[in-house]
Amino acid sequence: MSKHTLERILQSQGFGTRKFCLRLVEDGEVSVNGEVITDTRLYLETAGLKFSIYGEEWLFHEHLYLALNKPSDYECSRKPSHHPGVLSLLPEQFAGRDVQPVGRLDHDTTGLLLMSDDGAFIHAQSSAKRHVPKVYVATTHEPVTPQLVAQLLKGVKLEDESVPLAAIVCRQLDSHRLEIVLEQGKYHQVKRMLVAAGNHCTSLSRTQIGGLKLADMGLALGEWTYLTAPQLALLVPSPQTA
Ligand code: URA
Repeated sequence: MSKHTLERILQSQGFGTRKFCLRLVEDGEVSVNGEVITDTRLYLETAGLKFSIYGEEWLFHEHLYLALNKPSDYECSRKPSHHPGVLSLLPEQFAGRDVQPVGRLDHDTTGLLLMSDDGAFIHAQSSAKRHVPKVYVATTHEPVTPQLVAQLLKGVKLEDESVPLAAIVCRQLDSHRLEIVLEQGKYHQVKRMLVAAGNHCTSLSRTQIGGLKLADMGLALGEWTYLTAPQLALLVPSPQTA
């Protein structure tokens, strides 16, 4: 339980400087439970607090844990150079909370991307030691063959990697698509593995992280959602490698 004044709460949620948030309250732009609050000395309980600004409703979140269905031609970098950044797909105030992508997808990769403003969560999820399986669907230029699948399961040697990298699961979906499950998150890993195995990727999508499946979330490309506690609990290492 924690109580704060309204302008402090708005500031914590990324809506602007304390001065700007104070002005929002004083100008009568903020309502709590349908009632306009202009009293800047009032202390409010933050847990479960619903407030609206300019008529748009928000729920207080101590930290943000989000899932985005990333479209192609968006960069995960915080300083994008050639395409818009994924942050531009989120409400503006989330940037004010220092929300960041958890790991990266290439600009042309689509699918499940986690985002958060919780440094400990980002660090834990990105840790190389954590082995959370990530599922990708790759479309290939050349047809998928049993030899390609076998090679990816056996492991391929990539430049700058001391040991061969292998998929933990790899299965053919149709003539030019395969599902590949990786536990590492090396730079361009799926694309480089496919090249090393004699094919190459024409499109790539991440469909699952741990037990969290994009298909269960009903997100169209470019849409995002808050992750619930049960969904966060699915982001765990696979039992055989935990
Ligand atoms: N592997 C890749 O090659 N690209 C991605 O975006 C993710 C995994």
